[in-house]
Amino acid sequence: MDKHLKDDFPVDWEDDHFVTRREFFKFLTLASGGLAVGTTAIAAYSKLPKGERQFEPALICKTGDLKQGSALSFSYPRPSDLCLLIHKINGDFVAYTRRCTHLSCPVEYEATNGAERLYCPCHNGSFSVAEGKVLAGPPPHPLPKVKIELRGEEIWALGITTEQEA
Ligand code: FES
Repeated sequence: MDKHLKDDFPVDWEDDHFVTRREFFKFLTLASGGLAVGTTAIAAYSKLPKGERQFEPALICKTGDLKQGSALSFSYPRPSDLCLLIHKINGDFVAYTRRCTHLSCPVEYEATNGAERLYCPCHNGSFSVAEGKVLAGPPPHPLPKVKIELRGEEIWALGITTEQEA
């Protein structure tokens, strides 16, 4: 090897290989560790207990604002969290998040010939209005329910309840 070149790069060719291999194994170790941590985090998240999360109560609307057999879109708890308040055909009120549990398309309320459902047009998913359970299509879980409370003529949102499919 040229003397000048040897002075500029004092590492022997053999050592250079050794360093490269060591760096490669270091990379492999870090990558494997990262994958293990990521997999563990995903597994832990999927086993998080489902239940009710309470948020700051928010007024949705008044009972007279919504006729039976119709729905009103609202945001809760954040402006980007779209939900649907439904005034069912039988007169009850119920609310769900609008985000389909398959790939997050917004669901729509449908009431035809006395039958009602929450429908996701993206892949023909549907949910029951009574409990948010999956009726058809690929959604893996029921729709999270918005806990509501009637305070006189006002309907308030109090929290979100998430359940696993039985
Ligand atoms: S996103 Fe709703 S069924 Fe696929």
